[in-house]
Amino acid sequence: MAATAVRSDASARDSIPGAEAEVMINTRLTDDVPDILDIHIPVVDRSVALVEKLARRELTPDAYMAAVRSLHEELDLPNSLKPWIERTLQEKKDIVVYQRTRQTHREAIQFFYLAPNVFHPPHCHHNILSTQLVLRGQAHVREFDRIARLGPDTLLLKLRLDGWLGPGEAMRATEIERNCHWFASGDEPCVMLNFNAYGYQDWTFNPKDRPLRRNLVDPTHGRNGDGLIIAKEISVDESYAKFGGRPLSDFPMA
Ligand SMILES: [Fe+2]
Repeated sequence: MAATAVRSDASARDSIPGAEAEVMINTRLTDDVPDILDIHIPVVDRSVALVEKLARRELTPDAYMAAVRSLHEELDLPNSLKPWIERTLQEKKDIVVYQRTRQTHREAIQFFYLAPNVFHPPHCHHNILSTQLVLRGQAHVREFDRIARLGPDTLLLKLRLDGWLGPGEAMRATEIERNCHWFASGDEPCVMLNFNAYGYQDWTFNPKDRPLRRNLVDPTHGRNGDGLIIAKEISVDESYAKFGGRPLSDFPMA
């Protein structure tokens, strides 16, 4: 398989104070990531074709997400991508197979490696259409809807899922559904296919020109009278000080 493999966002990971060495954060802090356009496997070519339909507005964001889901099911990714899964497990790092970055839009498809007991802290996204599908192993996943902004740094969230996902199951985030998530591997490594398209939604929760990076939140901050979650937007340092290296079960949501 011809491939150009790069580690994503290494500079961001290296700058996380207090984070355990294997804890990785996928927050993009720079835009100097080279495009990767030369790997042609069915999941890449057909996913890119769907993005092109989205860009031409032949698909709405919802229809695009449904089409991505159907494509992933049709291609039986946990089986058809076995060579890539094995390679990711062997290299113990993310492998980017597609990346295109432009001024206001970007897309990426990558094999995402989670070493055992790696914890990605709770975070929301901005103008993302994202599918993160488990290919091998298990992930403890929490997904939240972002309901409203309560204050300059507080959000109202609704828990949509708190459970373990296995091969073929996915986190799916859009601007208006399951926008925030929190996930971790268990005692075995986990490989996911991560397919993101940024910049394709007209309405955004935050001002449209906000940087296309993820925003860390603390969903344990408080509870609304009706049971909805009051989350606080926090810094990378605060997030890793609180959530770094700790399983989700340390923070019960019930
Ligand atoms: Fe995310």
